[in-house]
Amino acid sequence: EKKIYTLAIESSCDDTSAAILCNDKVLSNIVARQAIHEEYGGVVPELASRAHQQNIVPVVDVAIKKAGITKEDLDCIAFTQGPGLMGSLLVGGSFAKSMSMALGIPLIAVNHMKAHILAHFIDEAGYEKPTFPFLALTISGGHTQIVKLTSFFEMEIIGQTTDDAVGEAFDKSAKIMGLPYPGGPLIDKFAQEGNPKAFPFTKPKMPGLDFSFSGLKTQILYFIQKNVAINSNFIEENKADICASIQHTIVQILMDKLKLAVAETGINKIAIGGGVSANSGIRATLKEAERKYGWTTYIPKFEYTTDNAAMIGIVGYYNFLEGNFSEAAVVSKARIEF
Ligand code: KG4
Ligand code: ZN
Repeated sequence: EKKIYTLAIESSCDDTSAAILCNDKVLSNIVARQAIHEEYGGVVPELASRAHQQNIVPVVDVAIKKAGITKEDLDCIAFTQGPGLMGSLLVGGSFAKSMSMALGIPLIAVNHMKAHILAHFIDEAGYEKPTFPFLALTISGGHTQIVKLTSFFEMEIIGQTTDDAVGEAFDKSAKIMGLPYPGGPLIDKFAQEGNPKAFPFTKPKMPGLDFSFSGLKTQILYFIQKNVAINSNFIEENKADICASIQHTIVQILMDKLKLAVAETGINKIAIGGGVSANSGIRATLKEAERKYGWTTYIPKFEYTTDNAAMIGIVGYYNFLEGNFSEAAVVSKARIEF
């Protein structure tokens, strides 16, 4: 069997990442995180593009060295075309184009959202890949989607957020509580010690499979303001219970829609992806759903759920096999049709 070496580049948001795959196996997956945004309480696009400019060459270099190959071994280059921040996408896109031209190898433009889902097809010892058809729940700081997949290349969005992404709901709630960015992992941490039923927040009434999280954020803001006006130590004294209650509400919102999606499609195999799938409440609830409802759930290695280039590489590899290459004139897109 011929070995196909793919270099993949991901630069849609604030992480610069490069990976090398040999067929569907990951040889290296390097991610340079940009700590600079923490002091601003969110990603600053201008700073992100600049950091990508600084990071891209060393990150690609390390990925190639760590994989134990040379650039002459590469068969194709895959990169994130969108969606994402334009200034960030352009850095990875332009780099990928130049390198594919210099090496004379095909260029493959990849949709970041599809890659989050197809990350489940990375070959990993001990990881059982989903079988078609299945449903994918993509939850991150930028996205909240339920997608129905009937094959590797055929997928349809059946539900998505109409306002904030679920990661934003976590991060904005954390910000209201005075926690640093990104607050999602901190809410998760404090929630472990708290009572999830301590403060019942109401779930939004969204029809069908679409999500809304902005109302919950406003509800939490008013709840905190009201209680802090009465007791200035309210947050400190109730941190674990507040976090557990917020997390519980968000998990219930996700579960309600998943249950509806399973009922509507008759598909009970659920694959999750995106940074929020690290959340312990979501993981535990999905495991419970396997027992309670007979679902099969797929949770990939954490490294492949947050933004990373390996997921771009697996999509690149499958497209390479099909001969689906991109023109040199391909452009980055902040918004991209699915
Ligand atoms: O996929 P990701 O790394 O980047 C994109 O947004 O594309 O996701 C980051 C998001 C942030 O909102 C972060 O707060 C959230 O994932 N997150 C979590 C946890 N770990 C990361 N949210 C809740 N619980 C966690 N354990
Ligand atoms: Zn992402």
